[in-house]
Amino acid sequence: MIRSVVRGTGAALPRRIMKNADFEGMVETSDEWIAQRTGIRQRHIAADDETTASLGEAAARAALDNAGLTPDDIDLIVLATSTPNNTFPATAVDIQNRLGMHHGFAFDLQAVCSGFVYAVTTADLYIRGGLAKRVLVIGSETFSRILDWSDRSTCVLFGDGAGAMVLEAGEGTGSIADRGVLAGSLRSDGTHKDKLFVDGGPSTTGTVGYLRMEGREVFKHAVGMITDVIEATFSAAGITAEDLDWFVPHQANKRIIDASAKKLGIAEQKVVVTVDLHGNTSAASVPLALSVAVADGRIKKGDLVLLEAMGGGFTWGAVLVRW
Ligand SMILES: CC(C)(COP(=O)(O)OP(=O)(O)OC[C@H]1O[C@@H](n2cnc3c(N)ncnc32)[C@H](O)[C@@H]1OP(=O)(O)O)[C@@H](O)C(=O)NCCC(=O)NCCS
Repeated sequence: MIRSVVRGTGAALPRRIMKNADFEGMVETSDEWIAQRTGIRQRHIAADDETTASLGEAAARAALDNAGLTPDDIDLIVLATSTPNNTFPATAVDIQNRLGMHHGFAFDLQAVCSGFVYAVTTADLYIRGGLAKRVLVIGSETFSRILDWSDRSTCVLFGDGAGAMVLEAGEGTGSIADRGVLAGSLRSDGTHKDKLFVDGGPSTTGTVGYLRMEGREVFKHAVGMITDVIEATFSAAGITAEDLDWFVPHQANKRIIDASAKKLGIAEQKVVVTVDLHGNTSAASVPLALSVAVADGRIKKGDLVLLEAMGGGFTWGAVLVRW
């Protein structure tokens, strides 16, 4: 059977690093409050010339280099983002053009912070359905552009960045010993749409809007939702937490990551954490964390890796991949 195998990963971050202490003169907060409640110590913030498209392009080039491929080898680009350069065309098409790629097809996918997990699942279906052989899956965001910089309950939490992965069709036997995407579970429930949203849009206000969040409400639902889709994924693959080599969760809050890992019985040393360095970069957070753990040698060929995310909507999901 066809499996979607990871060929390479890459990342790109804006030049400017903003530390927690840099907020102290802007809103009533402290490095201590932010670090204790979230685990975040710094985030990268895009300059005017750094956009979702430019960061996405840089991450895509890094993933292609890592895979030993060129844009000519790619059939499809799926970009997960909630902060596109324009309302339309899709930023994926902009990235396609920046890469000098004038064949194949490209589209954006919007599932907020769960975007990358949704995008990997989507790319896997295109590959297994025979519509594409090699897919560039990108998560790229510039959440700094939709933050209300006077709202301390949200502006300290997010950052900008991009991560990318190349998936390629490979042969598998249908067992979980195969390399590639093995199982997953996606969910959404719009009854929670007002707990984390942007208060503008083309069809309502005609403006871009600002991110609004009931942080405590999001926190309350997060662990249960995350662990539900992970348990569904474990059951689909016939594995337990002990079989995992690495857990690469969405990087929103260290307390949510720790509580989820604890509830699932995933050992602390198997959890990849980058929220301290990047803050919450929404759809970019999982591929950014992945590229850090691949680059430093933790994630290796043959490892069983679990990706997970939860975000506005709510949307949530998990994907199990053998590297
Ligand atoms: C946002 C979050 C860190 C807040 O932590 P918390 O422990 O729930 O804190 P609370 O919301 O209960 O707020 C406690 C107090 O801190 C204050 N506070 C909020 N932001 C603050 C900040 N940056 N600095 C200092 N104080 C702050 C609140 O106003 C509140 O004050 P009050 O008690 O006088 O009303 C936490 O709820 C969270 O992480 N939620 C999930 C958010 C998330 O992950 N979103 C993305 C999902 S993809």
